[in-house]
Parts: sequence; C-alpha cells; structure tokens
Amino acid sequence: MAVLIAPSILACDFSRLGEEIARAEAAGADMLHCDIMDGHFVPNLTMGPPVIASIRKITKLHLDCHLMLDNAADFIEPFAKAGADGIGIHLEVYPEPEPLLEKIGSLGKTRGLVINPDMPVKRLAGHLEMVDRLLLMSVFPGFGGQAFIEETYDRLRAVREMLGSRTDIEIQVDGGITPANAAKVIAAGANNLVAGTASFGAPDMAAAIRAMRGE
Ligand code: DX5
Ligand code: ZN
Repeated sequence: MAVLIAPSILACDFSRLGEEIARAEAAGADMLHCDIMDGHFVPNLTMGPPVIASIRKITKLHLDCHLMLDNAADFIEPFAKAGADGIGIHLEVYPEPEPLLEKIGSLGKTRGLVINPDMPVKRLAGHLEMVDRLLLMSVFPGFGGQAFIEETYDRLRAVREMLGSRTDIEIQVDGGITPANAAKVIAAGANNLVAGTASFGAPDMAAAIRAMRGE
C-alpha cells in the first residue's frame, strides 16, 4: 500500500488559508487533514463547515475531516454537504459507532474511526466492518505541535496484526509525526501520516513530505 501524507491545516497560517493550501498541493500533499474541535471533547476550538466549504472551492485534494466533537453525529451531514471527502469519528464518543459509520458511507464519504492514545487497540476489534480509515492518535488531541507518544509503535503493530491480510483499511496516525519518526511509524504499519507542524512548519514542505513518505 502506498504511503499517503496528510498535512493538517491546523498548522497553517489561517490568515492566508488559500495560499497555504496551494503550497501544500504544490509540495505533493496526498490529502488535507482538517481538525474540527469543539472546545469540549477537546480543549480547543478550530473550524466548522463554512471553512470546509470555502476550502472545497479551491482544491481537489481529498479533505479528511477529523471530528473531535461530543456531538459529531449532528455534524456528519453539514460536513458532507460542505465538501468533506472523509469523516472520522471518535470511538470514545461513540462506543457503538456503526450507525454513524453507515451514515458517513451512505453519503459517499470515507468512513473514519479514531481512538485516543489511552484507548486499548483491542477495542477496535468488532468495529472494523464499516471502517475505511482507522486513525490512531499519537498525541492526545487538541493541539498541534505536541511530541509523538512512543507507545504508538506497539499500538500500530497490534492494529496491523489485527487487520491481518486486509489491505482495504487505511491505518492513519496523527500527532507529532516528523521526517525523523516517519520511517519507524510506517514500518510499524501506518500508511497514512497526518503531519501539521512537520509540513507547514518545514523550511521546504516538498522535501519534508518526500522525507516522510520515505522517498
Ligand atoms: C491534534 C490533531 C492533529 C494535529 C497534528 O488534536 O488531531 O491532527 O493537528 O499536528 P502535528 O503534526 O503538529 O502534531
Ligand atoms: Zn487530527
């Protein structure tokens, strides 16, 4: 499976959002990761459907919306309408995520299931049928620029093993990814790397993306 790099726009200069997205596109980003926070499930606030709708007009890149919301169910349709391509929900908020995953799928979107660093990966077993993209958080969500949690390598290996020969599910990792740890994260089983600071904060974004992809 090819490795995809998903710059998180949380790390961009929001006063120049359009230019920043163009910069990520030119640098070879495979998709854009959009961190949607509610100030409640996580201690920070970011963007809503109007921002996604504006971004939709200026890029064809896949928009991967990571919903860190206590009421994500209320926002699946609004984000789908705004132009999201993928929508991820947290297992912490929805211990029985199937109805929502089904809804995301019925809207034609990539179905994402996310777990925080302290959720045992075995809790994913039994919830893999309707998932296209599994996201293992490698930091506690809320802020960009945090340090990668080292236990994530073992968690990735456990998920890889759990999936066995199934290659239809992406394994995404989010938080503290850099060119220095990307190879190890990929070796542990990830094939979709979210990287905010390491992309937008790099002196040369294209070089950083290539490095994280292992090129
Ligand atoms: C954290 C977010 C991440 C974050 C990653 O709550 O889910 O997507 O933007 O940022 P970096 O790559 O800077 O750790
Ligand atoms: Zn995220």
